[in-house]
Amino acid sequence: MHTLDSSQFPFFSSSFSNLQNQMILQISFHYNKPQLCIITSILFLVTTVLSSNPKFEACSPRSCGTGPPIKYPFWIPYEQEPFCGYPHFEITCMDKNPILRTSNYEFLVKDIYYSNSSFTVADIDVYEDKCPVPLYNYTFDQTPFTYSSENWNLSFFYNCSTEPIDYPTYEVDCAKNATHFSFADFHKEALEHKNYSLNECQFMVTTPLNINEAVNISSLLRMNYTEILKTGFVLNWTAPHCHYCEKSGGRC
Ligand SMILES: *[C@@H]1O[C@H](CO)[C@@H](O)[C@H](O)[C@H]1NC(C)=O
Ligand SMILES: *[C@@H]1O[C@H](CO)[C@@H](O)[C@H](O)[C@H]1NC(C)=O
Ligand SMILES: *[C@@H]1O[C@H](CO)[C@@H](O)[C@H](O)[C@H]1NC(C)=O
Ligand SMILES: *[C@@H]1O[C@H](CO)[C@@H](O)[C@H](O)[C@H]1NC(C)=O
Ligand SMILES: *[C@@H]1O[C@H](CO)[C@@H](O)[C@H](O)[C@H]1NC(C)=O
Ligand SMILES: *[C@@H]1O[C@H](CO)[C@@H](O)[C@H](O)[C@H]1NC(C)=O
Ligand SMILES: *[C@@H]1O[C@H](CO)[C@@H](O)[C@H](O)[C@H]1NC(C)=O
Ligand SMILES: *[C@@H]1O[C@H](CO)[C@@H](O)[C@H](O)[C@H]1NC(C)=O
Ligand SMILES: *[C@@H]1O[C@H](CO)[C@@H](O)[C@H](O)[C@H]1NC(C)=O
Repeated sequence: MHTLDSSQFPFFSSSFSNLQNQMILQISFHYNKPQLCIITSILFLVTTVLSSNPKFEACSPRSCGTGPPIKYPFWIPYEQEPFCGYPHFEITCMDKNPILRTSNYEFLVKDIYYSNSSFTVADIDVYEDKCPVPLYNYTFDQTPFTYSSENWNLSFFYNCSTEPIDYPTYEVDCAKNATHFSFADFHKEALEHKNYSLNECQFMVTTPLNINEAVNISSLLRMNYTEILKTGFVLNWTAPHCHYCEKSGGRC
């Protein structure tokens, strides 16, 4: 049995509790004291009954089968109600994998850190394309997401007329032809110091990566670019916190 006394937790962010507060406010303007007391008691009963079930259960954490538990501010349509999360945080389950779609990209959600509002994603193209190279710089304008400062940058150079000499890069064989080369590198600046001119390349893209987790430098050097892209990167999110609600045993 979970009952919530919203008056004790002013930040409890359920729309129902707001409604209740509004009603109490309105009632107190229109009724004298004895009536107010009765009506408040009824309201309290109604609140107790309502908050102990459907809304609370509707937002219990779910999973797609693999991956992290999905809860506020994330939510799974048809499994959880829209009030359990925010529109940008909609998770779709595909073959038991949690997928987040932004207007331009589709990401596999690898992990969610609810404690510091961040999560790890990898572009699903990396898993599906034959030549899974990033062809654009991600932008997260008009979303609640920002790059975490934990990420490194991996730069991809495409259709370059020469290859850097004496400099270790990740080969991108699937994006080259008989006369032009493509490669990836973590240190764009170091490459420039080697007098490699990026003008030799048709275009360049930078992708963030979080390789701190579980990957050390020596194993990083042995990986190829697809394996590296699959480690994914970290995004921070901003959404109203619901610590107060959860501490009280509720869910927002
Ligand atoms: C967020 O939390 C996760 C898991 O505890 C941790 O691995 C990660 O480093 C944290 N991120 C930041 C920026 O503190
Ligand atoms: C992301 O969150 C972490 C931990 O909360 C913080 O250290 C870091 O500065 C944040 N990065 C951005 C770009 O907001
Ligand atoms: C990666 O690139 C972004 C955007 O260009 C920049 O803000 C960030 O500082 C870079 N991170 C590192 C670790 O160089
Ligand atoms: C490199 O050039 C070839 C031939 O013009 C083109 O088909 C290919 O898409 C280019 N590669 C990239 C990654 O743009
Ligand atoms: C390779 O790609 C470059 C860049 O698009 C193009 O200029 C060149 O003609 C291509 N070479 C061959 C042999 O197809
Ligand atoms: C790069 O070019 C500059 C100017 O031409 C030269 O002084 C420098 O030694 C070169 N650096 C390397 C690493 O070749
Ligand atoms: C990606 O961003 C870099 C600068 O960080 C820029 O030089 C490059 O042209 C951009 N690539 C594309 C395809 O927009
Ligand atoms: C790096 O990681 C690999 C595999 O994850 C492990 O075998 C190796 O001992 C590690 N090396 C160092 C220096 O930690
Ligand atoms: C990268 O390495 C993985 C695992 O060793 C392998 O399955 C994959 O074919 C490699 N990809 C490329 C592009 O070399």
